[in-house]
Amino acid sequence: MKISVRQGDLMKARADLLVVNLFEGVRRPSGATGAVDQALGGLLTELIGEEHFEGKEGETLLVHTHKKIPAKRVLVVGLGKQSDFSLEGVRRATAHSIKKAKLIGAKTVASILHGTGIGGLDAERAGQAMVEGALLADYEFVKYHAEGRQKATRSEVKEFAIVVADADKAKAATKGIEKGEILARATAYARDLVNEPPSVATPRHLALYARKLKVTSSKFKIEIETFGEKKLEQMGAGGILGVSRGSDEEAFLIHLHYHPSRKASADKSGGKPTKKVVLVGKGVTFDSGGLGIKPWEAMIGMKNDMSGAAAILGVFSVLRELKPDLEIHGVIGATENMLGGKALKPGDVLTTMSGKTIEVLHTDAEGRIVLSDALTFANRLKPDEIIDLATLTGAAIVAVGELYAAAMTNNEALLGRVKRAAEASGEPIWPFPLPKDYADYLKSDVADLANITKNKGAGGTIAGGLFLQEFVDKIPWVHLDIAGPVFLEKEHAGYLGKGATGFGTRLLLEYLTNH
Ligand code: BES
Ligand code: ZN
Ligand code: ZN
Repeated sequence: MKISVRQGDLMKARADLLVVNLFEGVRRPSGATGAVDQALGGLLTELIGEEHFEGKEGETLLVHTHKKIPAKRVLVVGLGKQSDFSLEGVRRATAHSIKKAKLIGAKTVASILHGTGIGGLDAERAGQAMVEGALLADYEFVKYHAEGRQKATRSEVKEFAIVVADADKAKAATKGIEKGEILARATAYARDLVNEPPSVATPRHLALYARKLKVTSSKFKIEIETFGEKKLEQMGAGGILGVSRGSDEEAFLIHLHYHPSRKASADKSGGKPTKKVVLVGKGVTFDSGGLGIKPWEAMIGMKNDMSGAAAILGVFSVLRELKPDLEIHGVIGATENMLGGKALKPGDVLTTMSGKTIEVLHTDAEGRIVLSDALTFANRLKPDEIIDLATLTGAAIVAVGELYAAAMTNNEALLGRVKRAAEASGEPIWPFPLPKDYADYLKSDVADLANITKNKGAGGTIAGGLFLQEFVDKIPWVHLDIAGPVFLEKEHAGYLGKGATGFGTRLLLEYLTNH
C-alpha cells in the first residue's frame, strides 16, 4: 500500500473510494463530511436517517456518487462518541475503512485526516495513527497458504491518500505518516516472528534474526552479540541452561546494543546520550510446560511465548530509522521448554548468573527462570531503566483479559511514563502491586527462591513479578506481563487480526521516542 498526504480539495480527489467520518449520534454531517454531503445533494444526510446509521465505532455506510464527484464511492465511517474520542479512534476508523475497501475491491482510497476537525487532535499524531491503523489492518500472515487461497481472500489497496486542505496540517501529517509507517513495519516484523511455526522460530532463528540487525553508520551503531550454550556455561547462566536442558535446540542469550554517535547526540547533551535503557524479553520459542506438561489445549499457542523477544527485535529493526538520542540495549533469553531425558525435574535446584539459587517446583514456570539470567545481564550494563516484556502468567489473562498487559514496578515515576506511552500507542497496561507482605510467596526450604507459590493460584501474576524483582538491582524497572494481548483468537478494533498482535512494539517505540 502506497500511502501519501495530498494537499488539496477532497471533493476533487480521484479514487475508487472516498472516506469521510461521523461521530456517534450526529444526524447532520458538518465539516468535510458535510461538504461531501452537499456535493452529493444531501444524499448522506438522507441515508444516515434511512439506514439508521448511528456512527458507532466500526460502523460504515457506503454510497455511490454517480459521478457527482470524481470519487466513485463514498464511505462514511463511524468514529464512536465524541467524548470518548482519541488517537485510538483514528486508528480504528482507518482500519475499518481499509478493511471495507479491501472487501469491495477498491484499489485507490482517498480519506480525510480523521480527528483533526472538531475532534481537535494534532495533525501529526493523527497522520501517524491513520497509517498505523491502515497498515496493521492490512497485515496478514499468508506465508503458508496455497497461492490460490491468497488470491481468493486478498484484494489489495494500492494507493491510500490522505487529503488535507490546509498546508500546515498537510506538512504535519506527512511527518506523522512517516513515523506511522515505521512503527507499523516494526509491529509487522514482530507479528511475523511470532506467527512463524515453533519448529521454524527456534532460539537459533531469533539469534540469526538479531544478527541481521547489525548496522554501522556515522550517526549510530547497532551491535549484536549472541551467546550460545558454551558461552552461557562460562557466564554461569544456570537459569537459561536449566530450562533448555530438555530441548534439542541450543539456547541463546541475545544482546542488542544501539548507540547514537557522539556527534549525533552532542547538540542536546554534550556528547552523551540522554539515558541508557535496557529492554529485556522472554524468548521461550515453545513452552510445552516441561515435565509438568501442559494439557494439549493450553499448549496450542505456546509458540507465542517469545512475544516479548519479538517486540524487542521489532523495536531494533527500526532504530536505524528513528535514531533516538538514547543508548538502548535489548537482552533476550531464548530457549525452548521441552521434556527430553535431561529435562528439569521438580525439585531440581539451579544456580543462576546472579549467584542466587532457584528451586524448580514447577517446570512450567520457566519464564521467570530464564529472565533471572537476562535481568542479571541487564543489571550489569548499569542502565538508568529496565523494562521487561514477558508472556509470564496465564493468571494475567484471568485478571485483565486479552487486551491489557499487567504492569509491575519498583519505580512509580517510570511506570507513569510507560503508561503514557501505552495510552498513546493504544497498547494498554494496568498496574499491579508488588507487596512486601507477599515475600513468603517465594520461600524455598532448599534454595534461595522457589519458582512458584505453594498457596495454589493466589496472586499468580504478582508472584511472577515478585520473583523477577529479586533479580533487579536498585534500578528503576517495569515488568509487563503480556500473556494476554500478544495473541488474539478473534479480530479486534479493525487492526488487530487473529493471531500475533506484535503487542509492545509500538508501546516501546513510543516510549523511546517521546517519553
Ligand atoms: N508461558 C506461560 C504463560 C502463558 C499462559 C502465556 C497462557 C500465554 C498464555 C508460562 O510459562 C506458564 O506456563 N506459566 C504458568 C505459571 C504457573 C505454573 C505458576 C501458568 O501461568 O500457568
Ligand atoms: Zn510455562
Ligand atoms: Zn512460558
